Amino acid sequence: MANDEIKINEWDSTNPRWSELEQFFDNYKEGLQEIIRGYDQRDSRVLVANTECQIVGMLRLIVIPIGPENDLPAVKINDQELLQAKVMNFFVLPEFRRRGIGRRLQQQAISVAKSLSCYQLVSFSYDEHRENHRLKLSMGYAVQPEFRQNGKAHGLFFIMPLQVNDNFTD
Ligand SMILES: CC(C)(COP(=O)(O)OP(=O)(O)OC[C@H]1O[C@@H](n2cnc3c(N)ncnc32)[C@H](O)[C@@H]1OP(=O)(O)O)[C@@H](O)C(=O)NCCC(=O)NCCS
Repeated sequence: MANDEIKINEWDSTNPRWSELEQFFDNYKEGLQEIIRGYDQRDSRVLVANTECQIVGMLRLIVIPIGPENDLPAVKINDQELLQAKVMNFFVLPEFRRRGIGRRLQQQAISVAKSLSCYQLVSFSYDEHRENHRLKLSMGYAVQPEFRQNGKAHGLFFIMPLQVNDNFTD
């Protein structure tokens, strides 16, 4: 199948194929982070990579202020909280990997985050997700190693700064 037959679009619950996405999520739960009720459904956006008959990948992001997640005050400019888009789920079916679909999903996530006036696009990825790390590093994300789970696990926190608009400048 040619790559141009794989479309990437934003879907919401009005999409006629929404139940197919829910099924995809159920089928690949192990590769997808669980949804944390009440936290990561805030302004949740979903990008879907699909052919006419099959979903082959997805990326879900949420829009949150920068700081409160780490029990710190929100970062503000001119009394306005800066927002960040955080990627919560990112997955491509194994048989469709290394064909640029993950990169296309990330590029579209950057566009969506910009359109939502986010200051940055971020994600955290545990140490074992090496292919995800390679992809993000190849795209120019800034990277910060971090401990998680009280020091029992570690991974990489990635930040992509987005184009600063006039609202952010003094
Ligand atoms: C991470 C993931 C979404 C990448 O999807 P993908 O469609 O294969 O990614 P792409 O084809 O766009 O890869 C883009 C670049 O990333 C790097 N990359 C991706 N997979 C790689 C691998 N297995 N080994 C080395 N580099 C890799 C390469 O630089 C690649 O560019 P190239 O193919 O031109 O060399 C996919 O591997 C996946 O679903 N993994 C399991 C779930 C996961 O880890 N999600 C992230 C959770 S935090």
